[in-house]
Amino acid sequence: MRDSGPIGVFDSGIGGLTIARKIRELMPGEDILYVADTGHAPYGDRPDRYILDRSFAVTDFLLSCQVKAVVVACNTATTTCISELRAKYPVPFIGVEPGVKPAVLNSKSGVVGILATSKTLVTDSFAALAKRVSGDIRVEVMPCPELVVLIESLKLSYEETAGLVGKYVHPLLARGADTIVLGCTHYAHLAPVIARVAGPDVSIISTELAVANEVCRRLESQGLTATNSTTGGEEF
Ligand code: DGL
Repeated sequence: MRDSGPIGVFDSGIGGLTIARKIRELMPGEDILYVADTGHAPYGDRPDRYILDRSFAVTDFLLSCQVKAVVVACNTATTTCISELRAKYPVPFIGVEPGVKPAVLNSKSGVVGILATSKTLVTDSFAALAKRVSGDIRVEVMPCPELVVLIESLKLSYEETAGLVGKYVHPLLARGADTIVLGCTHYAHLAPVIARVAGPDVSIISTELAVANEVCRRLESQGLTATNSTTGGEEF
């Protein structure tokens, strides 16, 4: 593996751009190659096999472009198949999972709400994560099947999205959640709307910065940080 290759980043669509943006901020010298698998989005209501096959296909493409690491910028693909990706390919994979731990640490009410795709919320890895980190805090989940389609059609304004966001957020508030996790990278595009719908007393947790920090650490620890001092390139 070479330190001169790009960092590959993929998602079913534009959600992972929120992570790519943070990678760019933290690592201005790195090249980034981003794949939005838009023709096959959304992943969030598909069977495991479909998500695995798409993740393999996109990773094959990224490796054919000599990427030095792959960021699975998708909670659905990470929770469904990151272990299969790690077993099959010889590059480092960095994934993203819902930020249950920071939410648990933040909650005063004792209830945290998780917004995510239907698929993420039924995976064994999400169940294991929630069990491992929740302690005395109750974890309430809310699948949001219609949200990714709305975001992919670039409907991002308060006027266009507040109704649907409220449909998912209000039940979590009614169950006592004072902290809401954006457990799908697409939802970060709606963070201001979700925060406004939830109100000022509710904390919103997203994971882009944590993932970008982890990418930085992994590249450093494996000697893969770009050594050129030029501004990094971007391809989408
Ligand atoms: N952005 C993705 C995630 O974090 C996938 C959404 C979808 O395709 O349903 O889960």
